[in-house]
Amino acid sequence: MAEQRILGLGFIGVGQAVARIFQQYPDIEKLPYRFVAACDLRQHSLDRFENQFGGRTYRNALQLCLDPNVDVVYIATPPEMHKDHCLLAIANGKHVIVEKPMALSLSDCREMIEAADAQGVKLMAGHTHSFDAPIRKISEIVRSGDLGGVLMINSWNFNDFNARPWPTSELISTYGPLLNQGPHQIDIVRQIGGGVVRSLRGTTIWDESRQCIGGYSALLEFENGASASISYDARAYFDTAELYGWVGEGGALRDPETNLRSRKNLDSLLHASDDLEKALEEQKEHGRYGASEPTPEMLKLWGYTLAENVIHQPFFGITVVSCERGAIRQYSDGLIIYGAEGRTEIPLDRSMRGRAAELLELYKGIVNDEPIFHDGRWGQATLEVCFAILESAENHADVSMIYQVPV
Ligand SMILES: NC(=O)c1ccc[n+]([C@@H]2O[C@H](COP(=O)([O-])OP(=O)(O)OC[C@H]3O[C@@H](n4cnc5c(N)ncnc54)[C@H](O)[C@@H]3O)[C@@H](O)[C@H]2O)c1
Repeated sequence: MAEQRILGLGFIGVGQAVARIFQQYPDIEKLPYRFVAACDLRQHSLDRFENQFGGRTYRNALQLCLDPNVDVVYIATPPEMHKDHCLLAIANGKHVIVEKPMALSLSDCREMIEAADAQGVKLMAGHTHSFDAPIRKISEIVRSGDLGGVLMINSWNFNDFNARPWPTSELISTYGPLLNQGPHQIDIVRQIGGGVVRSLRGTTIWDESRQCIGGYSALLEFENGASASISYDARAYFDTAELYGWVGEGGALRDPETNLRSRKNLDSLLHASDDLEKALEEQKEHGRYGASEPTPEMLKLWGYTLAENVIHQPFFGITVVSCERGAIRQYSDGLIIYGAEGRTEIPLDRSMRGRAAELLELYKGIVNDEPIFHDGRWGQATLEVCFAILESAENHADVSMIYQVPV
């Protein structure tokens, strides 16, 4: 029997996002990947990587891209660097996973897609909550047609995203939650609704304390006639986890005081710090890979928990899907289907969490040459929806899409 090919994974940007990926290492370890390299400007994160995984470390992204042991480059630098790091990896023949938001403009997305096509490498628009088992299962049920066609999707998320100690420029560069959290929610509804959004009407709300967008709401119309209503309020007042048994984003129990704690922490920084940005940056560092061991308070501030406390399915707000002959929603350990015969619970396995599902999809794309569906074009289409919400909010008008791709 032919030996299974192992892919070498190298990370550019080993901060908060990658700390979350490494939390899922027990799932990822079972996959045919090895963590072989990391690049960052923060030496302490590279030291920790060497200790934990034994890979090569670099201070310069080009050098990681030249490393022959690296097959796939995972880009988790700040969004304004995604395009350049992506093009660098592609130019050196590497497959790429790029964190959300894929880039900060649609023209950057196009450049990245064209470069990957020209080099014949895979480009994946990386992790969003559409990779979570409950969302994958809802999509599978919808596509099976067992409940008839999909009619309407409702997705709500209310939390403390804006009140977390983001450096101000970082929060503003993504229009608050819109480009940072929007890709999760839009990927979820596009994956369930068939992918192709025809047009949308959107609004945004303002966050006085952060002086940027604090949330958004939009009605998306899909080409197949289905609709999706999405809302996100990141200002740390209501918390959707309250309607969900206090299960938090990662699948661990969320402290009901989280929103209040985040707002109080932010208020104290806004009013008491001589150097606000320095204080925010210090608190951001606490959640990054390689920082000194985070205290439980700091983990709570970022909405993070220790891996061993993850006991439920991940949760990205309430999502309810109406189909012709029934409805589906998530519960803490799986799905509930409301059909002609009543209510059925479908518990789901937790062994293949989002990050592992993402890597597996890419693996099959590279090794078996199967099409990946969270590819660059998919990521561009999701970003198009984010920008269309902004445009619609500004112009008080419907916006039509042009870059949409089906599931
Ligand atoms: N999918 C998710 O669940 C998720 C979670 C968190 C963050 N993210 C995404 O990950 C990306 C990074 O966000 P973050 O919160 O981890 O930021 P971060 O600031 O914590 O991490 C970025 C890292 O990049 C490093 N870096 C900066 N410039 C570099 C360069 N030129 N070369 C090499 N390294 C460099 C920084 O030192 C830092 O360690 C963003 O796009 C964000 O939206 C995704």
